[in-house]
Amino acid sequence: MTCSACGQANPGPAQFCGGCGARLVAVCPSCQAANPPDNRFCHQCGGTLGSRPAAVAPAPAPRSYTPRHLAEKILMTGAALKGERKQVTVLFVDVSGFTSLSERLDPEEVHRLMSRAFDLMLAEVHRYEGTVNQFLGDGIMAIFGAPIAHEDHAIRAVHAALGIARALEAYQAELRPRGIRFQARQGLNTGLVVVGSIGSDLRMDYTAVGDATNVAARMQQVGEPGRVTISEATHRLVQGYFETRSLGALSIKGKAEAIAAWEVVAARETRTRLEVAADRGLTPFVGRERELRVLLDAFERARGGHGQVVFLVGEAGMGKSRLLAVLRQRIAGEAGWQEGHCLSFGRAMTFHPLVDLLRRQLGIEEGDDEAAVAAKIERGLAGIGPDLASAAPYLRTLLSVDPGDAEVRAMSPAQRRGETFEALRRVVVQSTERQPQVLVIEDLHWIDSASEQFLTTLIESVPALRVLLVFTYRPGYANPFGERSYFTRIVPAALSTEESARNLRNGGSSPGAPTA
Ligand SMILES: Nc1ncnc2c1ncn2[C@@H]1O[C@H](COP(=O)(O)OP(=O)(O)OP(=O)(O)O)[C@@H](O)[C@H]1O
Ligand SMILES: [Mg+2]
Repeated sequence: MTCSACGQANPGPAQFCGGCGARLVAVCPSCQAANPPDNRFCHQCGGTLGSRPAAVAPAPAPRSYTPRHLAEKILMTGAALKGERKQVTVLFVDVSGFTSLSERLDPEEVHRLMSRAFDLMLAEVHRYEGTVNQFLGDGIMAIFGAPIAHEDHAIRAVHAALGIARALEAYQAELRPRGIRFQARQGLNTGLVVVGSIGSDLRMDYTAVGDATNVAARMQQVGEPGRVTISEATHRLVQGYFETRSLGALSIKGKAEAIAAWEVVAARETRTRLEVAADRGLTPFVGRERELRVLLDAFERARGGHGQVVFLVGEAGMGKSRLLAVLRQRIAGEAGWQEGHCLSFGRAMTFHPLVDLLRRQLGIEEGDDEAAVAAKIERGLAGIGPDLASAAPYLRTLLSVDPGDAEVRAMSPAQRRGETFEALRRVVVQSTERQPQVLVIEDLHWIDSASEQFLTTLIESVPALRVLLVFTYRPGYANPFGERSYFTRIVPAALSTEESARNLRNGGSSPGAPTA
């Protein structure tokens, strides 16, 4: 009997799945009653169960569907503590339309179709490190921010919701020719919960403080099919990262005051925390003269042909990105400036800061099709140097466009990676021949291993080039680059009392206080 929770085949008499421990259940095709796996006739209606190939475990244990790396993270590291109050974002997904199918289709077929929809939802929730806390009849409830802590839980939750919408839409298109239709509504809210126990089955018990969960469920109910609806509390945290449309104020059962709701239209181009803060207006820059001087010194040496690497290390909100924005203004016109950012949920995305850097440099936008991306690469490379055309296939692959070159297409992944490193290195080398370059990679604490490997090789070429590499990261990242004579480490101290006071008078928060 095949376990529908984990897919493992089990011997005939098995009661529990050997792969995930879920109880194996045979569903009667006539009345849908759950039967023990060794029943040959349904104990509810007497119908034949036969030697049916599949069986279902009605509510799979979280352990069986949570990917191993997340399960380990929940059980071993940084998971929420019992009694802790945590701010979380709650996502409700409801898929309607499947239930009515049961009249037309074999129950097993309905079950198979729904399992696939659930798998698609789970994959997106797990991609952003949320956990599914509950399976509902036609949907799921997922939590972001606990048990695994994430400062950007609201942003992750909305990305997951958009991912689910996209995946279900594609699935819907696949089923349409068979006349099968379903609709997904999603709702999110952010609020406080008190964490209960986290069982060895990974399920987190929690108590919602106030209406955290009710409001999320309500957002899901009021939304249009196919849409993602968020409450005011979630909107406040994701504003600037997504395009949203106001839905006005909605009344909620049991609540005196109406709650403003928003529909999420799309994710905006990759935006950094500082760019989003800048939308709301930055307070005047204070202090940091020493740090700026060190950076300008390093730039002078780089400009003179002695390439430098600066590591800028500090806690969240300490002012790393702001300091670099000031450096950028100070040297505008004297050097090229390229920057790429690591994403908190990007570790599984190979080369993501380099892809970000290239997209920014080449002006690639979300809606660009393959031809547009290829044209921008070609134009960009021609602008850098005369003989960089051979780098194009590698840049195209990095940007998810067909390489347009049979030889590159046929390479083994390892060979292609080596050639890609070399192509990127040549692009950097040639850029520095025309003009000194500043190359910034931000937030290395979230870097993927392929990008890290590339930076390790690039660093070897730096001393002979007119380039300043700046890497920022938060304490805790194990810097793999070692020590070199051309490395400098800057650890900005908290602003002095006088500087902080000036910043507060200007309406800023004290740099050093973690940003959400
Ligand atoms: N010297 C400063 N004067 C005034 N405001 C500052 C200063 N440094 C930082 N800020 C403000 O503090 C906030 C956080 O700074 P910033 O984004 O640069 O921190 P960060 O160290 O890059 O944090 P993260 O690790 O989250 O990226 C921003 O709004 C920024 O404008
Ligand atoms: Mg920053």
